[in-house]
Amino acid sequence: MADLSADLGFRTLKNPVIAASGTFGYGEEFLPFYDLDVLGAIVMKGIFREERPGNPPPRLHETPAGLLNSIGLAGPGSAALQEIIRRLHARTPVPIIVNVCGGDDDEFVEVAALFSGMDEVAMLELNISCPNVKKGGACPAQDAGHTSRLVKRVKERIRKPLIVKLSPNAADIVGVAQAAQDAGADALSLVNTFLGLAVDLEARRPVFANVYAGLSGPAVKPLALRLVREVCLKAYVPVIGIGGIASGRDALDYILVGASAVQVGTVNFYDPAGAARIVTEIEAEMERLKIRDLSEIRGKLQA
Ligand code: FUM
Repeated sequence: MADLSADLGFRTLKNPVIAASGTFGYGEEFLPFYDLDVLGAIVMKGIFREERPGNPPPRLHETPAGLLNSIGLAGPGSAALQEIIRRLHARTPVPIIVNVCGGDDDEFVEVAALFSGMDEVAMLELNISCPNVKKGGACPAQDAGHTSRLVKRVKERIRKPLIVKLSPNAADIVGVAQAAQDAGADALSLVNTFLGLAVDLEARRPVFANVYAGLSGPAVKPLALRLVREVCLKAYVPVIGIGGIASGRDALDYILVGASAVQVGTVNFYDPAGAARIVTEIEAEMERLKIRDLSEIRGKLQA
């Protein structure tokens, strides 16, 4: 039988499939569909200190093979999420990752420290890459210096492994990845969504109030796969690949270019059991290709 375990160095997941932040609610919403413990881990929707209403509607717009979103990190606030996490953890042992957000660096540090103190939380993911909260999609992950300062501050205040989530909209994602790992990130996850634009021709207006929005889904997979490969060529911490993964083969493509695990996102919207299906498909593909464990192919792209 194929061994699907995914070694992140600081922790081994039972398999490499992680449900991505913002596409899996707070886990509870998916309990009616399957046993969440079949996944490697799940990431909670991003959280700030206080409740946030998010952006005005519309927030979603379908494109060919893709989805633009401008949710604006709506959420119930940290105290409410702590309650949800306690409830969820009582129902499933799946490792829980908290996606930490902040309106400024102080808030990122405060929220990270708060969730670092919870036994029910396995790791933190620092969301420095959301394109939907500041004008023009600005975010800390566009700047290596800002990323470095912030990651250092967060690391000083937490005692859980820290994943830093990177943006494909940075001019130099490899430089930002290096800054994050040098500052103490335990792993990198990439990529968040690609900055895109949809317009309403009749109204002569952008579809979204924030003008730009984040593109995800199968349409972005080749773009994301390239960026993940480029970061993996330089990274000395584990990389979690994200972008358009909809099948077991897609997931194995990311492992081949060097990822240690993957996050699956948009697929959860149109196939609620999609993440669990991808685990089964990875196993079937590994058996078909006679791959005994993921290290046999991780980073083995011959190019
Ligand atoms: O708009 C949003 O809530 C998106 C979040 C993200 O891309 O991190």
